[in-house]
Amino acid sequence: MNPVSERRPERVVETAPAKINLALHVTGRRDDGYHLLDSLVTFAEDGDELVFQASGSDSFRVTGRFGSELSEDDNLVLKARDLLRVALDENDQPHGPVSITLDKSLPIASGIGGGSADAAATLRGLLRLWKAELPGERLQQIALQLGADVPMCLASTPLRARGIGEAIDTVAMPSVPLVLVNPLKPVSTPEIFRSLKQRDNDPIGEMFMPADVSAWMQSLSALRNDLQPPAEALVPEIAEACDLLRQSLAGYVRMSGSGGTCFGLYETEAAAMKAALALSVYRPNWYVLLTRTVPGDA
Ligand code: C5P
Repeated sequence: MNPVSERRPERVVETAPAKINLALHVTGRRDDGYHLLDSLVTFAEDGDELVFQASGSDSFRVTGRFGSELSEDDNLVLKARDLLRVALDENDQPHGPVSITLDKSLPIASGIGGGSADAAATLRGLLRLWKAELPGERLQQIALQLGADVPMCLASTPLRARGIGEAIDTVAMPSVPLVLVNPLKPVSTPEIFRSLKQRDNDPIGEMFMPADVSAWMQSLSALRNDLQPPAEALVPEIAEACDLLRQSLAGYVRMSGSGGTCFGLYETEAAAMKAALALSVYRPNWYVLLTRTVPGDA
């Protein structure tokens, strides 16, 4: 009997939670064209799911509701795997062939992380599978190399992001019912940034943690997503999605990232459930998800 063939291959499952920009202020632009941001970010309890399994050779498969819209040859997940391997070699850390499956349930090019969350989950999942470690700074460097939103997705906890998204401070935040709505019109992030009329907007300012959820939502109401006006001009359904969320008595409604996912925060589970149901009946061809935001400690 061969004891090796009896050993079950190691398997790791990692969620790639949807990223929600509660606010996104564009405060400037760097010489390389990247925009300076001040963003208040939380994450949903739900997202894509990745499975990593030790294997005889590398493979990658995409499944799920939006899987057919993604390439299995040119994907940020593969780029994350390969950059991680280079860094692990440099640091004398273990790695081996791996079979990766991505269950893509978040819409593509939709302002809620998507590819960035998948890339970050790949870094987290492979480090667990391979029982490997990297200095924090090196991991952050790889994350930023993969995309401006990848460092925040690596943290996947409520935070405030500045710089181009890489300067991160964790923030205390309540867990609240959340409804995501997307008209399923992909939005190009570079195109939205390009069509900004003003790039030197004011930052978010000082944030505090109010006593209750209602006061917290009230405190958000002064904040903006500066990418929302250009996104609404390009895809009018985004304004419609936000209107419908406001009519559903959400306590706070905005677009996330460069769109087109819009979200509503609710004080009660019952109100969020009612809104999600009404929206999916009224717009059966849109993406509607009932979930919660994750809680955060400062
Ligand atoms: O970094 P990532 O590849 O996710 O960004 C996609 C595009 O969005 C960039 O090529 C850039 O045009 C734009 N972007 C930006 N400023 C940021 C983040 C993204 O201009 N802070």
